[in-house]
Amino acid sequence: MKVTKICCIGAGYVGGPTMAVIAKNNPNIKVTIVDINQERIDAWNDSDVSNLPIYEPGLAEIVEETRGKNLFFSTEINKAIDESEMIFISVNTPTKTYGKGKGMAADLKYVELCARNIAKVAQTDKIVVEKSTLPVRTAQAIKSILDHTGSDVKFDILSNPEFLAEGTAIQDLLNPDRVLIGGESEDAIESLANIYGSWVPQAQILRTNVWSSELSKLTANAFLAQRISSINAISELCEKTEANVDEVAKAIGMDSRIGPKFLKSSVGFGGSCFQKDILNLVYIARSYNLQAVADYWEQVIILNDHQKRRFADNLISTLYNTVSGKKIGFLGWAFKKDTNDTRESAAIYVADHLLNEQASIAVYDPKVSDSKIQSDLNYLNTRSEEENSKLIQGSATPYDALKDAHAVAIMTEWDEFKTYDWKKIYTQMKKPAFIFDGRNLLDKSTMEKIGFEYTSIGQ
Ligand code: NAD
Ligand code: UGA
Repeated sequence: MKVTKICCIGAGYVGGPTMAVIAKNNPNIKVTIVDINQERIDAWNDSDVSNLPIYEPGLAEIVEETRGKNLFFSTEINKAIDESEMIFISVNTPTKTYGKGKGMAADLKYVELCARNIAKVAQTDKIVVEKSTLPVRTAQAIKSILDHTGSDVKFDILSNPEFLAEGTAIQDLLNPDRVLIGGESEDAIESLANIYGSWVPQAQILRTNVWSSELSKLTANAFLAQRISSINAISELCEKTEANVDEVAKAIGMDSRIGPKFLKSSVGFGGSCFQKDILNLVYIARSYNLQAVADYWEQVIILNDHQKRRFADNLISTLYNTVSGKKIGFLGWAFKKDTNDTRESAAIYVADHLLNEQASIAVYDPKVSDSKIQSDLNYLNTRSEEENSKLIQGSATPYDALKDAHAVAIMTEWDEFKTYDWKKIYTQMKKPAFIFDGRNLLDKSTMEKIGFEYTSIGQ
């Protein structure tokens, strides 16, 4: 099928950047990103691209170049579905919070709503592309909905999972390690491969069956997260044995069979996907009664929760077993640097634990607002909104957040944290002045020379 118009349902962290890069590299294809969230679409259409709803290095420039030419943002979902030959489903697939599979399975209601909407609106044949991360065999459910419309419109379903990481999304999209397309119809697969082929070498475009493609996405995230939990497990052992986790990571990473990436020990991984996708994998394994498989992958999450918890516990015990009424300055709230995304950030859980101990927290993050910090904590429902807003506040500058603090907790690895005037920070803090570096970002000996009591992970 010749594709001249693409619709993407879901203008989020995946839909926005992915479609912007497709539009940039395919100037003859009209790409329309639609969403039910009017506020989000308005932000994507803001004439000042610094107000886009998503912060990603390089994204604003591409949106500026393509928007209004062949890239459009709209809430007119039906119109975009109707006119497009290819429709990407890029909506959220969070962990279920109710009913069967609560806390484990992926909630597919948004995906199903999209499929039903496509079924209702489509008058001409369509290629429907699963871009969202979905449990293996979801394509079957989508196909079943689309095959029962009563019309003779033909739908081909493809799985095309996204592997971008936030903070480097544009680079990942422009230079992907691979693009994965799973499907039955060769013609549909080649239509999508041609779109990527305008900038990705064909050898890097893998064609598989749908189920391998769906399962590869969950497996890739599980393997990446497993590496972090593995090195974090070793970090605790390092702390007991005077080994240094960064030295261990370097030593094992130089083994070409292991490789150096994803071995950075930290306060624990966050982000919208690792936990959700592993829980989903565990749920699927259990549903096939594969208990050993499920237990194996579940341990990655258990270790990650342990790592967040022990960071908070260590901070409390070092501050003479109480943080009640003490000011703790957080540097970073986003789940990693170079993004404004805070979903499942370790900072949220560490803060919640410290607030239970009546700490008072001031947060500085270059891209996260006070209202986002409040809503992240309110979402946990641990205490009232009033209590949260009394106990934790976002600060306008790092120096405000750390003034008169008993301790600094580094939660995100933003580069700018390394450039601060740490001598000035030291003079303005309560003494002894503690740093708990959850990202091993600062130089231990420099900080100790200034006078800080410095604790990092796995050292
Ligand atoms: P997101 O929450 O940022 O965006 C999803 C968007 O879909 C929201 O704006 C929401 O309003 C919209 N939406 C929901 N239902 C809709 C409907 N029926 N009609 C129209 N719009 C609807 O989510 P995201 O981070 O972009 O993730 C999307 C999918 O991609 C998930 O399955 C996720 O697992 C996967 N994924 C995410 C990343 C990432 O880095 N965030 C990377 C790879 C894959
Ligand atoms: C991850 C994957 O890397 C992407 O390939 C995938 O597409 C995406 O999930 C998804 O499906 O959503 P993302 O979560 O955006 O991307 O970011 P990562 O760079 O993977 O970082 C995830 C978390 O792990 C962050 O909290 C990060 O700080 C932490 N991390 C990462 C470590 O603690 N140590 C490391 O060595 C690497």
